[in-house]
Amino acid sequence: MSNRPYIVGNWKMHGTRAMLAEARAIDRAAERLIKVEVAVAPPFTLIHATRKEAELIGIGAQDCHPAEGGAHTGDISAAMAKDAGASFTIVGHSERRADHGESNTLVKQKAEAAIEAGMGVIVCVGETLDDREAGKAEATVGRQLKGSLPEGEGVAEQVTVAYEPVWAIGTGKTPTPEDIVAMHKHIRAKLVEVYGEDGAAIRILYGGSVKPENAAEILSGKEVGGALVGGASLTAESFLGIIIAAAGDGEE
Ligand code: 13P
Repeated sequence: MSNRPYIVGNWKMHGTRAMLAEARAIDRAAERLIKVEVAVAPPFTLIHATRKEAELIGIGAQDCHPAEGGAHTGDISAAMAKDAGASFTIVGHSERRADHGESNTLVKQKAEAAIEAGMGVIVCVGETLDDREAGKAEATVGRQLKGSLPEGEGVAEQVTVAYEPVWAIGTGKTPTPEDIVAMHKHIRAKLVEVYGEDGAAIRILYGGSVKPENAAEILSGKEVGGALVGGASLTAESFLGIIIAAAGDGEE
């Protein structure tokens, strides 16, 4: 695992070719911000063009189908996303779990398919507000991890986990720094349970209303290895604000 903070922009269902200028600006700035590992996950339609525009930053997909190919109208396999230029894919985002009824089992199949295709994965987990208020946040996240994490020889090296409380996504609300650290600690323990020693090196990102204003505090939390950023990754200006905060002391 790299010790550099890993800042990933998830563009969700945003972006036409007009947004490539943002990717270019992020990429140019990344050249100076070498203390931070930066990536964006544009929609499938922009993966190829973004890869061509941006030389330094990582490019990922937001999802993949678990099958290698076949009669699955409208779906994209991991190999296709990779061929278009993605080196990793997000799986199990709460919006996919909610919009498409994705189960932990399906998320795990997707993660394993992506790794089989030679990609890294960012496996997303996170509790709802009801879970948190009922004191079940850790149990929910633990269950999601157990069901969603890919299995197999050497897979841990390809895994990043993103903790995204559902109630913090796009709401401007975030857990307290103490709650973020407590959950990351819980996730670390689960990763070690599942992968043994290799689990100690897996990066755990926080996601949910990360902005330039709160990034430094969130990223200073123990075990917080970076951020998965939605809304604030859509312009180079705000995304770079987060990357600069992650760099800690400016631009080197
Ligand atoms: P926001 O940063 O818009 O809250 O989205 C977070 C997220 O879902 C990233 O995957």
